[in-house]
Amino acid sequence: MTPTKTNHTMKTSHLLCKLLAALVLPLFASTAVPAAETVQARLTVHADAAGPRIDPDVYGQFAEHLGEGIYGGLWVGPESKIPNVRGWRKDVVQALRQLGVPVVRWPGGCFADDYDWRDGIGNPKKRPARLNRWWGGAESNRVGTHEFMDLAEQLGAEVVIAGNMASMTPKAMSHWLEYMTGEGRSALTDERRRNGRDKPWKVKYFGIGNESWGCGGNMRPEFQADLHNLYATFLSNGPKRVASGDGQANDHLIEVLMQRSLPHMDALTLHYYTLPTGDWATKGQATGFDADSWAKTIRIAKDIEKRITTIKAIMDKHDAAKRVALYVDEWGTWFDPAPGSKRGALYQQNTLRDAMVAAVSLNVFHRHTDRVRMTNIAQMVNVLQAMVLTDGPRMLLTPTYHVFDLYKPFKGATPLKAEISGPTFRRGDSELPMVEASVAKTADGKTVIALANLDPERPARVATGLRGVVQGRVLTAAAMDAHNTFDRPQTIAPAPYRAEPGADGLTIELPAMSIVVVTTAP
Ligand code: AHR
Repeated sequence: MTPTKTNHTMKTSHLLCKLLAALVLPLFASTAVPAAETVQARLTVHADAAGPRIDPDVYGQFAEHLGEGIYGGLWVGPESKIPNVRGWRKDVVQALRQLGVPVVRWPGGCFADDYDWRDGIGNPKKRPARLNRWWGGAESNRVGTHEFMDLAEQLGAEVVIAGNMASMTPKAMSHWLEYMTGEGRSALTDERRRNGRDKPWKVKYFGIGNESWGCGGNMRPEFQADLHNLYATFLSNGPKRVASGDGQANDHLIEVLMQRSLPHMDALTLHYYTLPTGDWATKGQATGFDADSWAKTIRIAKDIEKRITTIKAIMDKHDAAKRVALYVDEWGTWFDPAPGSKRGALYQQNTLRDAMVAAVSLNVFHRHTDRVRMTNIAQMVNVLQAMVLTDGPRMLLTPTYHVFDLYKPFKGATPLKAEISGPTFRRGDSELPMVEASVAKTADGKTVIALANLDPERPARVATGLRGVVQGRVLTAAAMDAHNTFDRPQTIAPAPYRAEPGADGLTIELPAMSIVVVTTAP
């Protein structure tokens, strides 16, 4: 980080970083990196749009009945001592409201492939407990449709209902939709009213199956496409109908869905997880990694762009008008559990590296708005790349949360063509551009710029040629695996950032391992 004469906030941030480094370095000595020379880079922003506006739903999230994702993390029950509104914890909901979560996907994932919606309605005391087939333990069904829809309303979010195409009949699926959204009088809408909800809810998206190539039924693409059409037939004139798509780099599946199911779907999906090793048998740890793992993880995250590009090319052959969208309805990091962890399934820490994965992924989504109109990071609380971690009554915001917070101005903005020229860096077998960028024009005419310095050692100075003052925030830390703990929840948090143009225009200073998001001043 090199503070300039005109950059007072960065000076303060610099001092804060030093202080932070003094506090944090002893804790994370294994992954701390030495100071190095500042590197020059250039950002060129073009006035023309790089695609349609960024749909705010690109900032969606995923909440599955898994580990401590729902129970404990979000839901504590109305009788809990932890402050709650009708069972949903106030602290977590408030933090998520602050983010402006546009849409939540529920109830799974693989959980959805075995879920019977009837288990989750009616008198909570009479709801059956079921074994959670995929993630272990018992599912009490205390949280069902009414409770989840209440959460969505408390968050002000739209919903993606993930329907079970593996073990629920088309009739049961269409009944669930009628129960939720039916307006007139019918046995199902009357039952909803008896269960406490008069007004129909809005279901914006309905997922027809999940990972049909795996936990959703191990289907052949051809069989899945036929089945999709059957189920979709009974969900017409309602929500956007979403076909379960790729998660195994299977081009044939996309081809078959586009050939056989085009009239019966509004979108198909991609699941893309970032494993530091790229190997499901030994995924790698969330903390305590080296610079090679840092670089490889970010490279794998960035590779989602290759997959999206390939899928788009197949979709384009069948749908030149781009009517059908590509929803990345599961994405994020997936690590091995911490040794000796007693936390719920798929609980993992979240570090500055996760923040980088979030930033580069969102940048990719901004570059493909012609098809990518909704995504759901996996997952919301206590599971995989979570926004929030909880421990009994305590909670913390993760570095990923902070990236979503920093990136808020991008929601609904129009992406602009932007090029970065500058050096690359190499660690192990991964070579990456040092600086990543995304630029967009907001509805009120401001320019929002996100810059990430992926290099674990070298600061960067990015010349922009822009003339105005910019302000926003920077997220950085002294260690690659800096993270927040329940005792130190502010170890990594954004700091204010402001820069004024010098004689050569606006220059943005990026500390090593930092994400800066700024907008032009009004
Ligand atoms: O997000 C965890 C799991 O990952 C989901 O249940 C499944 O759809 C995917 O394999």
